Amino acid sequence: MCGIIGYVGKSDRALNIVIDGLKALEYRGYDSAGIAFIKNNKTQIIKEKGKIKNLENKINFNLKTNLGIGHTRWATHGEPNLKNSHPHKVGKITLVHNGIIENYEELKEILKNYNYKFISDTDTEVACALIDKLYQEKNDLVKVLSKVSNLIKGSYAFGIICDDELDTIYATRKDSPLIVAIDDQDYYIASDIPAILKYTNKYMLLDDYDIVKMSHNNITIYNNKLEIEKKKNYTFSGNIEAAEKNGYEHFMLKEINEQSTVIKETMFPYLDDGINGLIDKMPDFSKYNEFDIVSCGSAYHTGLVAKTLIENYTNIPVNVEIASEYRYKKLFFNKKKLIILVSQSGETADTLASLRIAKEHNMDTLAIVNVVGSSIAREANEVLYIKAGCEIAVATTKAYLAQIAMFALIALKIGISRQTIDENELNEITQDIRRLPLLIDEILKNDYKNLAKKIFKQNDIFFIGRGIDYAVAMEGSLKLKEISYIHSEAYAAGELKHGTISLIKDKTPVIAIVTDMNIAPKTISNIREVKARGANVILLTTIKLDDNYDFINYKIVVPSIHPIIQSILTVIPLQLLAYEVAKLRNCDIDKPRNLAKSVTVE
Ligand code: AGP
Ligand code: GLU
Repeated sequence: MCGIIGYVGKSDRALNIVIDGLKALEYRGYDSAGIAFIKNNKTQIIKEKGKIKNLENKINFNLKTNLGIGHTRWATHGEPNLKNSHPHKVGKITLVHNGIIENYEELKEILKNYNYKFISDTDTEVACALIDKLYQEKNDLVKVLSKVSNLIKGSYAFGIICDDELDTIYATRKDSPLIVAIDDQDYYIASDIPAILKYTNKYMLLDDYDIVKMSHNNITIYNNKLEIEKKKNYTFSGNIEAAEKNGYEHFMLKEINEQSTVIKETMFPYLDDGINGLIDKMPDFSKYNEFDIVSCGSAYHTGLVAKTLIENYTNIPVNVEIASEYRYKKLFFNKKKLIILVSQSGETADTLASLRIAKEHNMDTLAIVNVVGSSIAREANEVLYIKAGCEIAVATTKAYLAQIAMFALIALKIGISRQTIDENELNEITQDIRRLPLLIDEILKNDYKNLAKKIFKQNDIFFIGRGIDYAVAMEGSLKLKEISYIHSEAYAAGELKHGTISLIKDKTPVIAIVTDMNIAPKTISNIREVKARGANVILLTTIKLDDNYDFINYKIVVPSIHPIIQSILTVIPLQLLAYEVAKLRNCDIDKPRNLAKSVTVE
C-alpha cells in the first residue's frame, strides 16, 4: 500500500497539487516519497527518504509545470532508502507503482539479457524496464500496458510518464486500487479519494486492466485495447474536513471522538422503520447454517467479537479466520456456508484474495466495508457499508467500532428470523442501541492520562478476558502496541496459567476486561492469580459488575448495556488509553513506524 497521485491539466501548479495529494495519502505508507514532472521539455525526478516533508524541502514550488506524478512508499522489495524510492526511470519510462511484481526476479534476468542495468533493489524498477523494452518495440503505451498485464504476475497500480509524450500521463491497475477524477479540464489519478478531495469529490473507479491515457485536454480509458465510452461516476459523500484534523492533535483522536456519530449513522438507519427496517435492509441469512468470517488485524478482531454475538444469539456456528492463513489452507465449503469478508479499506490483499478463492468455489460472499466502491466491496456478492467516514489514522478505531456494530445488527436480524431473540429482548436491545451515542460521548469525557502515566514506561503489558472480553482484549492490545511500540499480549484469562503467567512479575501491568456477567467470577479468579504474582491490575468492567475489589490497582467502569452491544462501549477506554500512552512516548500516532493504512500487498 503506497500512495500514488498524478495530475495533468490547466493549472501550472502541478508540484503543489501532487505534493498536497501525497500528504493526503501519506497514511498509506511513508518510508520515502518522490515526484516526477516536466520541465524544459524533460522529465525531472525529485525523491527523498522518509516523510513527505523531507521531499518538500527539496522542491522549488515556484517552478511552473502542468503535469506531475507522485508516490509515497511502503517498501516491500528493497529497504526504504533513496535509490529504492519512486519514481523509477528506465529508458524513456518514468513510473510509480503500488503493489508487488511477484515474478520480478525472472523478468529481471530476462531484461539483463537485453542490457538493462538495475540500480535499485525493487521489483518496481523491473516493471519500469519491462515497459520501456516493450515500448521500444511497439511505440504505443496502450498496447504495451495491455501486453504487460499478461507478463506480470502480482499486483500493480502504475502511474507513467513517457519521454515521447511529455503532455500525457498513463495509468493502469491490477488488484491495487486506482481512481480517476476529472474536474473541468483537470485530470487526476490517485490511490484513494483523500488525494483529490481538495479539488473534487467526483471520481471514477478503475477496473483491473483498465488503461488511462490523459493529457491537458482529454482523457481516454481503454480495456482490452478498446476505448471505454463511459465509467460510473461516484461522489464522495464526505468532505475535505473529513480528511482534516478539525482541531484535534491527531487524526486518531479525532476519529475516536467521531464514534458516537459513526454508531448513529451506521446503526440507526436499520432501526428507523422499526424492526421491519432491519429485516428488509439486511441480507437474507436464512439459508445459511455456518459462517466463515475472514479478515486481518483489527478487522479480524471484529470477527472474534462477532463469533460470540452470532453464536450466542442465533445458534449458528462461526469460524473466524485470518485471511493470510485462510487463502492457503484447506477450506471446507458448502452452499449453506456464508463467507463474510471484513475490511475498512476494502483493498487488503489477503482479504481480497480470500474473497476471490471463495467465489472460485461458488460460495456466497458478504463484505462489511467502509470505503465505497473498493475492490472487496465490488467483488463480493453483497456488501454492507459501515458509515465510519474517511479513516485516516493508520490505527483503526471508528471503523472497528462500526464493524462490530454491524455484526450486532446481523446477529439481531438473524436472531429475530430464527426466533432466538424474543420481542421483549428485541425492544431492550433497540432501546439500548438508541442510547449508544450518548453513552459513548459520556465515556469520551473521561481522561486516561493519569493511568497512561502509570504504564507508559513499561516494556510488557498484558490484556486478559474471557469470551467476548477476550476478543476486545485482542483489539486493546493491538491498539496499544501498534501506536506506542510497547510489547503487549492479549490472553484468554483462563489460559494465562498454562505458561505465559511465568512472564508476570512485580508491577507488570495486566488490563483485565470483565463485562460478561456469566463468567465474571472466573475472570476475577484469574485476576487474583496474576495479582498474587505482583501484577498491577487495571480492571475494565461495567457499572453492573463494579465492586470494591481490594486487589485492583486501577478501575475503569463503563455503562452496562445489553451484552449484544456492550463491546462497543468496552473498547473505547482501551483506544483512549493506547492514545495517551503513545503520546507520552512521543510516538507518531497517526503514522506508526513500519505500518500502513491499507496493506494492499501480501
Ligand atoms: C488496525 O489498527 C491496523 N492498522 C490493521 O490491523 C488493519 O486493521 C488491517 O490491516 C486490516 O485492514 P482493513 O480493515 O482495511 O482490511
Ligand atoms: N513493491 C514496490 C516497492 O517495494 C511498491 C511498494 C508499494 O506499494 O509502496 O517499492
